[in-house]
Amino acid sequence: MNVINNIRQLRSWSTINKGTRCVFVPTMGALHEGHAALIRAAREIAGPAGNVAVSIFVNPLQFGPNEDFSKYPRTLIEDLGLCRDNGADMIFAPKAEDLYPADRSIVMHETSLSKMLCGASRPGHFDGVCMVVAKLFNLVQCDDAVFGKKDFQQLAIIRRMVRDLDFNVVLHGIETVRESDGLAMSSRNRYLTPEERAQAPAIRAALLAARDAWKAGESNPAALQQLITRQLEAKAPLGRIDYVTVADAVNLQPISAGTEHVVIAAAVFFGAARLIDNIELK
Ligand code: PAF
Repeated sequence: MNVINNIRQLRSWSTINKGTRCVFVPTMGALHEGHAALIRAAREIAGPAGNVAVSIFVNPLQFGPNEDFSKYPRTLIEDLGLCRDNGADMIFAPKAEDLYPADRSIVMHETSLSKMLCGASRPGHFDGVCMVVAKLFNLVQCDDAVFGKKDFQQLAIIRRMVRDLDFNVVLHGIETVRESDGLAMSSRNRYLTPEERAQAPAIRAALLAARDAWKAGESNPAALQQLITRQLEAKAPLGRIDYVTVADAVNLQPISAGTEHVVIAAAVFFGAARLIDNIELK
């Protein structure tokens, strides 16, 4: 496994590997079983002859001024072991000053999908995600890229960016990996106190209850949102709901009778941790 930490070395790796299918997994490190599943999925897509590239970079542009950039867990040594064990061929772990020149003057700005869900309470977050993913796509020169569906909005926005900017990259959304009690795996779960950890699976349980109601014929978004809110208030009193939204799974706008794909997404604060999850209804 090659570990590369500067752009010059990455460019020579790309030149040497030109013509070999490259499947890319962008991450911010603090890797867990959810990332391992993404790397294994990438390995499968790449096949034995292809390359799996993983980036490890805590992107300052996607953190707001009061968010956890400085305390975001950095566990490079353990991360490299997990990448190796799950079949990665190349790790790109650049420094922020290499990716972002001090006098950079070009910005990315998403104007629609990022206004909803997480974007409503994290202004600028998805602009930062788009910027780093666009740069990484350019640098890694991948054919495919793999993203987790837990960050449903992120995947929808990257799909939009790939379409709007004509990136020649095929995107793959991978199912969320969960703890045995249903909690979606996240690098931020480590911020939870034992009491918060015990209540956090209520997010998944409430989403499943809403899906059951949907299957039983409840299609009113307000009623589904209320069902989830009530259940969370009862089962997770330590949680503070940021949002519960029923949305069109492609453009994240409110649903109408003709909406083809529907998702319910939720974000709940438990102390310092903001946990997100979602469920696709159709
Ligand atoms: O999902 C993440 O870990 C990050 O948002 C990403 C896509 C690696 C960009 O920094």
